[in-house]
Amino acid sequence: MTIEIDLLNGDASWPRAEPLLDAVWPDDVMATLSWGHIKWAHADLRVLIDAPEGGLACHVGIYFRTIDWNGNKIHVGGIGGVSTRQDCRGRGYASLALAAAVDTIRANEAVRFALLFCEEQNFAFYRARGWEPFEGEIWCEQPDGRIRFDLMAPFVFDIKRAPRQGRIDLCGLPW
Ligand SMILES: CC(C)(COP(=O)(O)OP(=O)(O)OC[C@H]1O[C@@H](n2cnc3c(N)ncnc32)[C@H](O)[C@@H]1OP(=O)(O)O)[C@@H](O)C(=O)NCCC(=O)NCCS
Repeated sequence: MTIEIDLLNGDASWPRAEPLLDAVWPDDVMATLSWGHIKWAHADLRVLIDAPEGGLACHVGIYFRTIDWNGNKIHVGGIGGVSTRQDCRGRGYASLALAAAVDTIRANEAVRFALLFCEEQNFAFYRARGWEPFEGEIWCEQPDGRIRFDLMAPFVFDIKRAPRQGRIDLCGLPW
């Protein structure tokens, strides 16, 4: 069976992505999450996989950003909103979409490393796919100002070489 993977502009593809993200993270669930109040950046690009039985099955958002690491400006690729529809899980869709997203990030020659944020229940999923924890501090912007972002764990992926420690300022909203 052929699986088609779409790579689309983030804003233009939002109407296609929104119902899946709302289903995976509904408002009543968001209200219970420690990070439910966080304002997130909009994806620059999205990887989308449709289900053979119809509708969107899987989504991965891609973000490009110049961040600050220990006072150095570094261009990174972000991954966020990784989600697979409940009835489509365990078919390898998130693995495929994540790999496509990393390939897209790698194709941008300015990028030094990829960065994502996740909860503990997904650490093993990302570790098994080559991601490693970033042990340092993360700072980011929110509508009320700059905050230390420690509600999710940062994981990095070597495109060239990712730092494992230090202080990262996302220089904008998190993803
Ligand atoms: C995490 C998630 C995206 C995985 O989607 P998926 O399409 O089912 O993933 P895949 O089919 O590519 O991978 C499933 C594989 O990963 C494993 N896996 C899935 N979630 C895992 C987890 N949390 N920890 C460890 N392994 C996990 C499965 O056992 C399976 O392993 P196998 O390939 O060896 O059989 C999906 O469960 C999901 O949408 N969860 C809710 C939203 C979420 O937490 N997103 C992550 C935000 S950072």
